[in-house]
Amino acid sequence: MKLNIAILAGDGIGPEISREGVRTLDAIAAKFGHEFNYTSALCGAAAIDAVGDPFPEETLRVCQEADAVFFSAVGHPKFDNNPNSKVRPEQGLLAMRKKLGLFANIRPVQTFDCLVHKSPLKDELVRGADFVCIRELTGGMYFGEKLEGTEKAYDTCAYTRPEVERILRVGYQYARQRRHHLTVVDKANVLASSRLWRAVAQDVMKEYPDVETDFMYVDNAAMRMIQDPKFFDVMVTENTFGDILTDEGSCITGSMGLLPSASTGESTPVFEPIHGSWPQATGLNIANPLAQILSAAMLLEHFGLAEEGALIRRAVDASLDANVRTPEIQVEGGEKYGTIEVGTWIAEWIAKA
Ligand code: IPM
Ligand code: MN
Repeated sequence: MKLNIAILAGDGIGPEISREGVRTLDAIAAKFGHEFNYTSALCGAAAIDAVGDPFPEETLRVCQEADAVFFSAVGHPKFDNNPNSKVRPEQGLLAMRKKLGLFANIRPVQTFDCLVHKSPLKDELVRGADFVCIRELTGGMYFGEKLEGTEKAYDTCAYTRPEVERILRVGYQYARQRRHHLTVVDKANVLASSRLWRAVAQDVMKEYPDVETDFMYVDNAAMRMIQDPKFFDVMVTENTFGDILTDEGSCITGSMGLLPSASTGESTPVFEPIHGSWPQATGLNIANPLAQILSAAMLLEHFGLAEEGALIRRAVDASLDANVRTPEIQVEGGEKYGTIEVGTWIAEWIAKA
């Protein structure tokens, strides 16, 4: 298969993990005879520094012309804690989501048996937990009407019926391929937007009688995720709730550096780790490349390359089993591998498999 892939490495550890993701893709291309062509483009702080815009027109064009975007991370401390900065790297990410119409953010929360001891939760609670959070990504407070004054400010959480319906359908498609259980997470006891979600879900669910649908308030869901994460199979929720719950989900698994994600919608799909740019680690060769490498697996699976995706997942499992791990997940006394060493080990494993 021939794929044109836009590479948006971004800031901080982004370029380092991006390189290892590409190394993995190249290993797959060589093994299976695919042709992956890459075009790099600027985003985030790197783009602000270069052209004053966190998501330049040129980057949008590169993304639109590509089959997929392989994204890493954006964010830089010089823009944080400065309420006066006019542009922020994060705006680049939001612009990309909006301009590419990426309304569905798919964030799997999966545990790795050999890392269960790193989870803040008890072994028996977390072992075997495996769910997917489907986060609505182009609506809600992130994009609703805003007022930003010095005495008064607000963000509006607005949704339309079609917006809710299309994201629910994505959720049901996943549920059908999984354990046929879908939980709609909302705050319908307080919020009007949530009551619309619930009403729409009560209509849409009738078309999926093979899937068990339940409804949960977001505060309760946050609690349930740590008390009984195995309860969940597919969770569908609005943008802000999904942002918060997926950080919670990622920490259940033991390391933020392990979880990939996909964002799909009206235009080119984007594949990226769910973690941020970890600026303090820039250039130190200590960032875990696994979330980026697993994002490559999601990318390939999106295009129907199931065998290739599965091989990447097996390579990642093999690296963990062989204790070829970055410092934050290494076992006590184990050798500490760098970003490059983990990526290289995985690429070589793929070549030999
Ligand atoms: C995420 C991030 C972004 C978000 C930030 C960087 C704008 O936290 O992808 O979850 O809030 O959506
Ligand atoms: Mn987030």
